[in-house]
This record gives sequence, C-alpha cells and structure tokens, in this order.
Amino acid sequence: MKDYLSGAKALAELPYTKPPYSSRAWGNPLHSLCSYQGKLKPSIAHFLINLFTSPGDRVLDPFSGSGTIPLEARLQGRVAVGNDLQVLAYILSYAKVTSVDLDVLHARTDEFLDYVKSADPDPGQLESASSFGLNGTLSEYFHPGNLVEIVNARQYIIANLKSLDPELALIFSAFLHILHGNRPYALSRTSHPVTPLKPKGEFEYRDIAPRLIAKLDKVVAAYGLPISLGGKLSDGTAHWGSYEMIPECSSIDAVITSPPFAGSTRFYSSNWMRLWAAGWEPEDFRAKKPQFLEERQRKGLQVYSDFFDSAYRWLKPGGRLILHLGKTSKIDMRSELQEVSAMKFEYVYGFDESVEGAEKFGIRDQGATKFHQFLFLRKAA
Ligand SMILES: C[S@@+](CC[C@H](N)C(=O)[O-])C[C@H]1O[C@@H](n2cnc3c(N)ncnc32)[C@H](O)[C@@H]1O
Repeated sequence: MKDYLSGAKALAELPYTKPPYSSRAWGNPLHSLCSYQGKLKPSIAHFLINLFTSPGDRVLDPFSGSGTIPLEARLQGRVAVGNDLQVLAYILSYAKVTSVDLDVLHARTDEFLDYVKSADPDPGQLESASSFGLNGTLSEYFHPGNLVEIVNARQYIIANLKSLDPELALIFSAFLHILHGNRPYALSRTSHPVTPLKPKGEFEYRDIAPRLIAKLDKVVAAYGLPISLGGKLSDGTAHWGSYEMIPECSSIDAVITSPPFAGSTRFYSSNWMRLWAAGWEPEDFRAKKPQFLEERQRKGLQVYSDFFDSAYRWLKPGGRLILHLGKTSKIDMRSELQEVSAMKFEYVYGFDESVEGAEKFGIRDQGATKFHQFLFLRKAA
C-alpha cells in the first residue's frame, strides 16, 4: 500500500478511466447481481480498496447500497463490513459479503419457487398490490399471473428477512433483479432495469423459475473467479439500519463510502418497486423518508457532524476516512464536508472529476451532479 497522500494523488490520475478498467463490463460478475440506482463503478471501488487498504484490514462502508465497496474489499482479501438503512441495499450487501453453499442454495431455491407457485396469496395483499405504485401501478407492469406470484415471493421475503442467511440473500437479490427490466430476463412488461419507468408492450406471463435459475447460475459461476485468484474469501458482515447504529468501536482500519449526493437520487423512493417487493409497505415510503440522509441533508450539510462523530468512533487511531461525493452548481460537498469534519479529522487531500454529460445506466445523470469528488481524511494517530 502506498502512503496515504501518494495513493490519493495516484487516484487523481483517474486510473479507472483507462483500459481495461474503463470498460462497462469490468469487474467480477457479482457486481451485477441486481440493478441499483447510484451504484459506484466497480473499477473505482477497486482502486479505493487497492490504494488505501492492506490485506486483512477491516473496511467499513456505512452507506453500502448495492455493496460495491464491500465486495471489492472482500475480493482483495480485506474484511468487509457493510451497512445501509434501506432494505434492498441490506439484502444486496449481505449477498455480496458472504458465500453460499451450493447444495443449500439449490434446496432453498426449490423451496422459494414452490412457495411462489403454489401459495394462495392473501386477498388483501393482492388487492393492495394491484393498486400500489409510485410511477404507474403494479398491475400496469405485470401479467395478472405474475403479480400473484410476485405477491407470494414478497410474503416469503418478509417472513425470512429477520433471519437472512447467505443463500436466501442471494436468491432474494436475484429475484429482485429480474423483477423489472427491458429484456426477456425480466418479469415485467418492458420497463427500465434500474428505475421502474412506465411500462410498454404486451401483458405476457413470464415464468419466474427459469429466469431466477439463469440469474443464479450466472452469479454462482462468478464465485470461481476470486477463488482461482488465490484462496477462499473470508465472509464479512452486513448491518441494517441508520449509520449511527453501526456497532463498531475503534475496530475499523478504513471507512470508504459514497453517501447520498446533494440534489441527486432519493434512495427511499427511486427504486420503489424493489423496495416494495423486499417488504416495504405503501405507508413506509412516507414514514421512513425522514431517516434518509439525502432528506436530512436538504437542510444543510451541517447534519454530517453527527456522521463524523460516528466515523471517529468506528475508526482505529490513524484510520482513514475516504468519501466519494457529488458537486452541483449550488453545493460543493467536498469543501463543505471538509469544514464540518475539521473538529475530528485531519485533511489529507481532495480532488474533483467532471462528470457532466456522462450517462449512468442509460439515463442522464439524475439530479444536478456536475463533478464527482473525493475527500481523504485521517483520524489522528
Ligand atoms: C450513493 S448510495 C451508495 C451506493 C453504493 N456505493 C453502491 O455502489 O451501490 C448512498 C446510500 O446511502 C443510504 N442511506 C441514506 N441514508 C442513510 C442512513 N441514514 N444510514 C445508512 N444508509 C443510508 C441509501 O439507502 C443509499 O443506498
């Protein structure tokens, strides 16, 4: 590992924009387990882990989203700790920090699919599902036969969420991925794979089983890749809750994270269909919103002083805190957060990268992000 400042300067050369890292397809296929809005490019996560941590380090991402940073940490032999407030992010992060036993995976997949096919859905649940949606109702997205099965799958996920295990996390992630999209792998009429956009095309019944199994097969094939690079990966941890609740204390070598960008994605609603399918009730979309940092930070970035207190508690003396941020024409997150962090952290380095005009997942960058920013801080030794 380079010294901290040299590593930061090496990242400022944007190595992830050069081949092979610049390719959209770069990275372990597990990174594509499920579409997630606001997902970090795996190649950026790769360099963040590679340049700023050492094998065996405990690396925490308190806003882990789809688990990109924890997965890269694990692939490079670090101990990954993820956390997110959102249920979908928790399931995906869990799946990315653990490995499955293939026999258990096959047995659990059969159980899940049996339930989905044969359970009688609760009539109240089915009725409420038909009329729910933040961008068109669910009954506009699915053939009625699929909607019944999706309501069953949701019931199964809710019943098992509190006792999630690696196999269920992987199955649920794969199911949530195939829920909507624009190709035959998806259960919906034609929509967008990342954000459910109003659907088009025929109402066609699409069998869950072959689609789920095809997705799981692809993902499982990816397990061979890291192992062939040397040894078994150690399992990490995924927490579920707001960052203040993360139970780490002076145990973390590096916190590497991408909090919600100012004026950008609303993680409590943009992925509404997958959030609903993972267990959120229609009223949760309003009730849970105030806890999300993107909502709290609308009042100003001073709210991060609480975050810096937490990061100080998690880190070992001398530990590194690296933030990947977004700048709009009105808000410069990097310089504002540098100021807020100054009571607790030493400033090491920072830089901006223009992303104007860049496309994300085929949608123009939502919100007003003009630059991505990196802020490198250190807890005093
Ligand atoms: C920019 S995204 C992280 C994306 C992630 N790096 C990835 O590659 O998928 C920010 C995340 O912060 C989460 N979040 C928002 N408020 C939170 C809070 N109070 N505690 C924990 N997570 C929160 C959101 O749910 C979202 O997943």
